[in-house]
Amino acid sequence: MQEFVLRPTLEASETWERIVVGIRRLPTLPSVVFELQRVIQNVRSSAMEVGRIISSDQVLTTRVLQLVNSAYHGLPRQVHSVTEAVTLLGLEQVKSMALALSVHDMFATGRYADGLDRAQLWRHSLAVANCARLVAKEAALEDPEQAFTAGLLHDVGKVVFDQYAHAQFIEALQASAGGMPLHQAEAIVLGAPHTRVGQMVLSRWKLPEFIPYTAMHHHSPGGSSEHLPVCACVTVGNAVAKWAGYALPTDKVVPRLSKRIMQMVNMSQEKASAIAERLDEAMAESADFLQALQGK
Ligand SMILES: [Fe+2]
Ligand SMILES: [Fe+2]
Repeated sequence: MQEFVLRPTLEASETWERIVVGIRRLPTLPSVVFELQRVIQNVRSSAMEVGRIISSDQVLTTRVLQLVNSAYHGLPRQVHSVTEAVTLLGLEQVKSMALALSVHDMFATGRYADGLDRAQLWRHSLAVANCARLVAKEAALEDPEQAFTAGLLHDVGKVVFDQYAHAQFIEALQASAGGMPLHQAEAIVLGAPHTRVGQMVLSRWKLPEFIPYTAMHHHSPGGSSEHLPVCACVTVGNAVAKWAGYALPTDKVVPRLSKRIMQMVNMSQEKASAIAERLDEAMAESADFLQALQGK
């Protein structure tokens, strides 16, 4: 393995300033996403109401329908309206779909040819989301779909780095390719790890708290929070997905999982291996999800 020595630079705090300014300037999420969060939190809201909200956004409607009708969901017939999709798939699935599509679109194109490969990042994120959902089912979490959504967005901070501190991020990626955990390399060169930046962006977008919480703590879950179980599912999902080969080419270090985390989600080595084995199949089914995310 190539030896790569990183030294903290004087500019790290300056870089961090620039990133914070960039985050403040990020556009807000489409209002349709907030409307959705609000309505879905109300247990009495109906499929029709959710359908009406999504339908108010033409682009989102088209893409949700494209996604629903892809092989991923294996539905027996063509779905022509969002209301129908909600009835067939459930509110939570349609919500995480709309959220993933909206967040993806905020960062659709990278500014640079080198650096972070966005398609690879979404592939990794989708693998983590799939694993996290399977882990959540094992752990008998009340809502495994939350683990899927949190998994999908756990590494969003990397995209922010790539966008606002590209040169330094490349340096961190190189160190990581040489064997140093990426979040450690980022803390040295960029002034903070992607976990912190991800939390800042997702909180700024006022997403439900378990999402920024997971972005912040997915490399070291601990303490006592009501969101800890979802976060632990993503931590385990992240390790399993990387171990199964769904890592970014520049960030292949598989994190070690402590006994405590494994116990937290009722996981054993055998169960983790079984999830890794099922992942290829889940990802093959998710190919349409990825394509729809990327608007192809
Ligand atoms: Fe991460
Ligand atoms: Fe990750």
